[in-house]
Amino acid sequence: MYTFEELKKGALPKHLAIIMDGNGRWAKQRGKLRVFGHENGVKAVRETVENCAKLGIDCLTLYAFSTENWNRPKLEVDTLMRLLVASLKKELKTLNKNNIRLNAIGNISSLPKKAHKELLEVIEKTGKNTGMTLTLALSYGAREELKTAVQQICAKVKNNIISPENIDETIINNHLYTQNLPDVDLLIRTSGEHRISNFLLWQIAYAELYFIDVFWPDFSEQHLVEAIINYQNRERRFGKTSEQLN
Ligand code: IPE
Ligand code: IPE
Ligand code: MG
Repeated sequence: MYTFEELKKGALPKHLAIIMDGNGRWAKQRGKLRVFGHENGVKAVRETVENCAKLGIDCLTLYAFSTENWNRPKLEVDTLMRLLVASLKKELKTLNKNNIRLNAIGNISSLPKKAHKELLEVIEKTGKNTGMTLTLALSYGAREELKTAVQQICAKVKNNIISPENIDETIINNHLYTQNLPDVDLLIRTSGEHRISNFLLWQIAYAELYFIDVFWPDFSEQHLVEAIINYQNRERRFGKTSEQLN
């Protein structure tokens, strides 16, 4: 058992990203429909957000719905969108109480009207908060994000706003959905899958990866603290040698 206090001795990841996976299998294990897993996943989201804010994490990014998830059965997609709207409505107060600013990445205009509107409203109503930035990845796909960035940069080249030889990593960064966020320091994926599933491909270039077997609805404060302690015990060399760092 680790405590919050132990964790505060080391450096926290500035940007923590989580692939919240395993809701469907969690429900199946209990003989229930997949949507039951999503309903229980919401609880884990709420707890994780509050714990990260309490800890003092600057940026938390949650993969909530991928561009590929549109291919799921309609009932499941509808349920996820309904849960999104309900959670946004319900959590606005808590976000403000915890000084959390909501942000979204992804092709959010492709969300159902109601979800899109509610999302923009909560983003606006939490916009002045100065604590943690909570980013929801919704209808997000890293390849779609990169494609959009390339289109925007090409348009600027065409209009002589940027010249090709001046395109650098900063310019690319500034055209991504994550333009205001630092690179990911720690990426956690639950459910035992060891893959990235089209999440933040550019931004995780030097992230520490942490895979855990528990299904998302079971992800607890203890799992979060363990993941961060594990992260704190790694040596991030960024291409250098261990000796150079000391
Ligand atoms: C993650 O759980 C939630 C979303 C992708 C929206 P899944 O729904 O992928 O659950 P599994 O992976 O099928 O168990
Ligand atoms: C990734 O999970 C997307 C989210 C967690 C929102 P998936 O369950 O969709 O990923 P794959 O299909 O197993 O790779
Ligand atoms: Mg899954």
